[in-house]
Amino acid sequence: MTPTQLAAAIPKAELHIHIEGSLEPELIFALAQRNGLSLPYASVEVLRAAYAFTDLQSFLDIYYAGASVLLHEADFHDMAWAYFLRAKADNVVHTEIFFDPQTHTARGVPMAAVINGLSSACDRARAELGISASLILCFLRHLSEEDAFATLEAALPHRPRFIGVGLDSSEVGHPPSKFSRVFARCRELDLRLVAHAGEEGPPAYIWEALNDLKTERIDHGVRSLEDPALVAELARTRMPLTVCPLSNLKLCVVRDLKDHPMKRLLDAGLCATVNSDDPAYFGGYMNANFVQTVEALRLSRDDVITLARNSFEASFVSDERRAELMAKLDQAIVS
Ligand code: ADE
Ligand code: ZN
Repeated sequence: MTPTQLAAAIPKAELHIHIEGSLEPELIFALAQRNGLSLPYASVEVLRAAYAFTDLQSFLDIYYAGASVLLHEADFHDMAWAYFLRAKADNVVHTEIFFDPQTHTARGVPMAAVINGLSSACDRARAELGISASLILCFLRHLSEEDAFATLEAALPHRPRFIGVGLDSSEVGHPPSKFSRVFARCRELDLRLVAHAGEEGPPAYIWEALNDLKTERIDHGVRSLEDPALVAELARTRMPLTVCPLSNLKLCVVRDLKDHPMKRLLDAGLCATVNSDDPAYFGGYMNANFVQTVEALRLSRDDVITLARNSFEASFVSDERRAELMAKLDQAIVS
């Protein structure tokens, strides 16, 4: 098997997927029709043609508009179920899914509709597809600390249905430290902590995520390579980076996939993982990300296995489930 074939075939975990970013144009149109909404795009093709991004903000504007078709619990369930079918096809055996409740509650959608719809899809994925799945609630960093606290409060009645919190949306100008107190409260609640940092923002934002928010993973983190002391710290602590190669390409973080830092991150001994971020918008799910990265950077068989192992090492699963996932990988490598 070539490294590319191996990458597609082996079991893996996805740890950086915004469920609203898995909403394909076809489903956006179907949900708009079901909910009696009209869209400012004439067709699926016209909408897809608008997916030409110059930076993170140009994407976020379209991403939030797309999410506006989600109104009812069933919409959230159907969106997540469509993602799980794609994940299964790519041999994803575990996934930790981001959701952006503020995008929905600001439109009057009840928190319960969002969380129950997503959570029932996770239960179904476990039962019908053998995929373990958890939810991570993300705060939108362009909104206020006060709004984040109110969102946490509204979500707490559903506490057993999500395992952690994250921080996403427009990065530059909204440093992690803006949310230090919210994350401190989440830590007291035994929530797992992650944050987007170093996607477009500087290495200083990654330091803030680590030191002020006390995150257990960094989402993206590709700009860490600009700061050798930070790279040394990330390597020393085995701090996972949930890297999203096709996202970085589509949002112009890198000019070409051949310039992507993934190989340098691995060679520096960092716990880097491959993820799809917003697959409906960036041109591919997990295996597309794996395969295109392996080919562009000529990753070796060992690199591919390391990436899959890192995804399980970085997962928020029990020790027992982690051992099970690692064993599945070992079995796939020898067979
Ligand atoms: N929300 C969805 N995708 C995102 C990304 N790549 N960065 C920040 N916020 C996001
Ligand atoms: Zn992301």
